[in-house]
Amino acid sequence: MFAITGITGNVGGEVARNLLAAKQLVRGVARDVGKCDAWAQRGCEILAADMNDPPALTAAFRGAAGVFVLVPPNFDPSPDFREARGIARTLRTALNAARPGRVVYLSTIGAQAAQPNLLTQHTIIERVLGDLPVPITFLRPAWFMENSSWDVAPATSSGVIPSFLQPLDKPVPMVATADIGRVAAELLRETWSGHRVVELEGPHRVTPNEIAATFARLLSRAVKMEVVPREAWQSLFLSQGMKNPTPRIQMLDGFNEGWIEFACGEASSRKGKVPLQTVLRSLIERAGKS
Ligand SMILES: NC(=O)c1ccc[n+]([C@@H]2O[C@H](COP(=O)([O-])OP(=O)(O)OC[C@H]3O[C@@H](n4cnc5c(N)ncnc54)[C@H](OP(=O)(O)O)[C@@H]3O)[C@@H](O)[C@H]2O)c1
Repeated sequence: MFAITGITGNVGGEVARNLLAAKQLVRGVARDVGKCDAWAQRGCEILAADMNDPPALTAAFRGAAGVFVLVPPNFDPSPDFREARGIARTLRTALNAARPGRVVYLSTIGAQAAQPNLLTQHTIIERVLGDLPVPITFLRPAWFMENSSWDVAPATSSGVIPSFLQPLDKPVPMVATADIGRVAAELLRETWSGHRVVELEGPHRVTPNEIAATFARLLSRAVKMEVVPREAWQSLFLSQGMKNPTPRIQMLDGFNEGWIEFACGEASSRKGKVPLQTVLRSLIERAGKS
């Protein structure tokens, strides 16, 4: 049996779908079990556990051949990353007590970067889990293609998408969540010892201009990217309600300056199969239904 956290989200849902398709037993772990009826109908056991609740997480992980650990995204962390430090402690306590057969932890590209930035949250958690006497794979995916869900409305309405990734012709490592879920499900069914890192990106690197051109093809209208000037980011993010935009700005700098990269480099990263066009088409369809 495989315990899957974040099952109501993008990646956790994909992991569960892949395991069910392979006829594996799945335990969905959710803070709100009321959101999991569809998973229960598909045969999943459902357990309630919040990422900040060690006893509930221990119960959720106990007896699992493998656990998929996904920590909720936090775009506006405290300056000392205390939220990530707390989750790291909780996960270590729960995994140490439950001792599942193995763990796949969803980390990120650039978790090895020395400069502080938003992704430091995963650096902290990887380090804390790195002590555990349990086989762990740190799965480090690229920028999610699904981040372009924010681009659908401007592409459709004005045809001008604001871009924080710049310059607009710089290729960025990106990957579809369908590829992440498929690879995570495969990794959960492997056997290994100790700790390892798997770095994953899509079939090819994607420029912001390619995102605009793909939207243009899919929407049959002119679409272009427009750079959001670096000096405007701080006031923009504050005006949107963020309290501490610095880590997010540092992360964007890291992608734009190239120091957020795979430790193994582009030549050696694992490659997914799902192209950008497939993801953007489904984002457009989803927006049309909502
Ligand atoms: N976006 C990127 O480009 C990128 C790149 C690399 C790595 N990542 C990492 O990928 C992860 C996000 O994956 P995703 O897109 O699949 O996320 P998502 O769709 O936003 O799903 C987040 C999941 O976490 C659950 N959750 C939220 N708060 C929780 C809590 N307190 N306790 C337990 N569960 C909680 C949510 O459940 P509810 O339904 O109850 O809210 C949901 O199932 C983050 O760790 C992020 O750092 C993202």
